[in-house]
Amino acid sequence: MAETMTTTHDVKDLGLAPQGKLKIEWADRQMPVLRQIRARFEKEKPLEGLRIAACLHVTAETANLMRTLKAGGADVVLCGSNPLSTNDEVAASLVADYGVATHAIKGEDHETYYRHILSAIDSKPSVTMDDGCDLVTVLHTKRKDALPGVIGGTEETTTGVIRLKAMAAQGVLGYPVVAINDADTKHLFDNRYGTGQSTLDGILRCTNLLLAGSTVVVAGYGWCGRGVAMRARGMGAIVLVTEIDPVKAIEAAMDGFEVVTMAEASPRGDLFITMTGNKNVLRGEHFQVMKDGAIVCNSGHFNVEIDIPALEKMSSGKRTTRPFVDEYTVGEKRISLLGEGRLINLAAADGHPASVMDMSFANQSLSVEHLAKNATTLPKDVFTVPREIDAQVAKLKLAAMGVSIDTLTPEQVAYLAEWSEGT
Ligand SMILES: NC(=O)c1ccc[n+]([C@@H]2O[C@H](COP(=O)([O-])OP(=O)(O)OC[C@H]3O[C@@H](n4cnc5c(N)ncnc54)[C@H](O)[C@@H]3O)[C@@H](O)[C@H]2O)c1
Repeated sequence: MAETMTTTHDVKDLGLAPQGKLKIEWADRQMPVLRQIRARFEKEKPLEGLRIAACLHVTAETANLMRTLKAGGADVVLCGSNPLSTNDEVAASLVADYGVATHAIKGEDHETYYRHILSAIDSKPSVTMDDGCDLVTVLHTKRKDALPGVIGGTEETTTGVIRLKAMAAQGVLGYPVVAINDADTKHLFDNRYGTGQSTLDGILRCTNLLLAGSTVVVAGYGWCGRGVAMRARGMGAIVLVTEIDPVKAIEAAMDGFEVVTMAEASPRGDLFITMTGNKNVLRGEHFQVMKDGAIVCNSGHFNVEIDIPALEKMSSGKRTTRPFVDEYTVGEKRISLLGEGRLINLAAADGHPASVMDMSFANQSLSVEHLAKNATTLPKDVFTVPREIDAQVAKLKLAAMGVSIDTLTPEQVAYLAEWSEGT
């Protein structure tokens, strides 16, 4: 029998709404692209008749995305995509001030987290909006009854897109999904500059560490890893990079970073940051040889990049020394784990700055509009955000930044189209 969990909202305390509203309004000021889309949606109502179940980090930026979808005429239900990333004040304001049925509480346990996802599915969505594929997974396993009503979905992050592509390859994906992460105006900016800055922000807020002169080990030189490595170097850290992809490893080496194996990095690092989308990147053999005082954390999507069960097993004691800092005693050494190994930028800081989420969420809004028009004609597969949407988001952002760019002259258009010129 299908599990159901119908409640209109579940947030920590509706009394927190006034502070949440201020946060949402502050973020909105840095989100000019989304604001322009919201103004158009208000007039045209392109999402009329859609019911959207969104499973996203419940932040002020997400609140502005929810407002935009509602302005477009959609019914919206929101649950958290991570037990530690919810801002309780924002969640309260979403319910009290914006009428968005929100189900998310910071620090919720595993059972509550999944109960909230079930509540979102109980709304009988026609569109899903996911960040990490948890909502889609529950829909395709425990709640198949709700699948036939869904016409399409969107997925925000790298890890979710990998999972969805595996589902499509096995022929089990029930509807078309747009991979927001694959838009250039998403991963080139959100993953690189957003994660780059906010990951260090989270680490510094909970540790008050001085990065200058310390050795930072970045595991994974993808879009997020590049951003973090670049920013850590900018603050004076000595940055070591680990990779498993030879091309990314050469790129890191030519960007001037020292590329090493994790075995080589382990005794040298003061701070380890994983962002690979993979599991057990930091393991028992690495903890064993780390320095006394080493700090480990993760900014990849799931809390599996650090083998926390192994750390628990090999340690003789554990104490919480500061909020989001758990210190383990391993032999004579102390190793600190930040944010329970979950996305540190969302656990201990505010996540990405609003101005970068502006582009990611503009892609979300325009992709839902695209699904409203085209979902019935699309096969059950994973799609890249249409090129026109990517270009439109970039143009709107440039305009908001007051940046003008050149246009091709007629002569240049002809030159680029002419293959025999110059022979
Ligand atoms: N913290 C955030 O706010 C945030 C934002 C965006 C994405 N993410 C998540 O961060 C993770 C990385 O995203 P991305 O866009 O950089 O992905 P990516 O695919 O561009 O990069 C991941 C890199 O990790 C490398 N890698 C894989 N296994 C490894 C291992 N064992 N050791 C070393 N390197 C390894 C890969 O070769 C690849 O270069 C994903 O889980 C994604 O969902 C987090």
